[in-house]
Amino acid sequence: MIFAANFKTNHTRVTTREYIESLSSMLENGDTDQEVFVFPPSTALDSFDAPIVVGTQNAYTAQNGAFTGEIGLDQLDEFGIKTILIGHSERREVLGETQEIVAKKFAFFKEQGFKIIYCIGEPLEIREQGDQAVVEYLMAQFDGIDTEYEDMILAYEPIWAIGTGRSATVEEIASTHKALRATISRPILYGGSAKPANIKEIISIDNVDGVLVGSASLDATNFYSMITS
Ligand code: PGA
Repeated sequence: MIFAANFKTNHTRVTTREYIESLSSMLENGDTDQEVFVFPPSTALDSFDAPIVVGTQNAYTAQNGAFTGEIGLDQLDEFGIKTILIGHSERREVLGETQEIVAKKFAFFKEQGFKIIYCIGEPLEIREQGDQAVVEYLMAQFDGIDTEYEDMILAYEPIWAIGTGRSATVEEIASTHKALRATISRPILYGGSAKPANIKEIISIDNVDGVLVGSASLDATNFYSMITS
């Protein structure tokens, strides 16, 4: 199983290091063989000696240059970072990334050999229209994306379940992942209010290969309890 922690705009450089040290020692002592990723904010990216893959939540499609506020390959190479989140709904909805921008980013980081956790998800008004509408909406988020890229992990995150405490139901996750599986042979994560209280149920659903966790990942002990559930 894959367990990925998305810190978003939480944790500092100091608390990220403390977190990674603490989670690493729990993982090393606990003898677990799960695949663990942590996505700290850009300012906390660094080299870590840890049984954890550290990735970036975002980056610009350039080696370096005049892109105020962005980081490029130079800043990632410094720490050997080769993993990126692309398409997160907060970047699509809050930061205005269109499918075209997302697809360009995907193609660039694929070309650079990055592992890409590619996020898709529907808003509530689409979910309310039923399964067919959801699948059509999600398929449009594959426009311009090489869904056969061997270093892609897909993350299905219904927008209405992110940060709301309300996870999708087992039936909703099962039917959506089943539909996605018809197109995607890569691992498929679920994200959206995954937490210690529902993790067992979520990871036992067919076609769920792991979770992408926001809020419940911010505390290392909490996240570790999910990893070992
Ligand atoms: P959440 O966030 O676990 O806080 O709902 C998940 C995500 O946005 O990746």
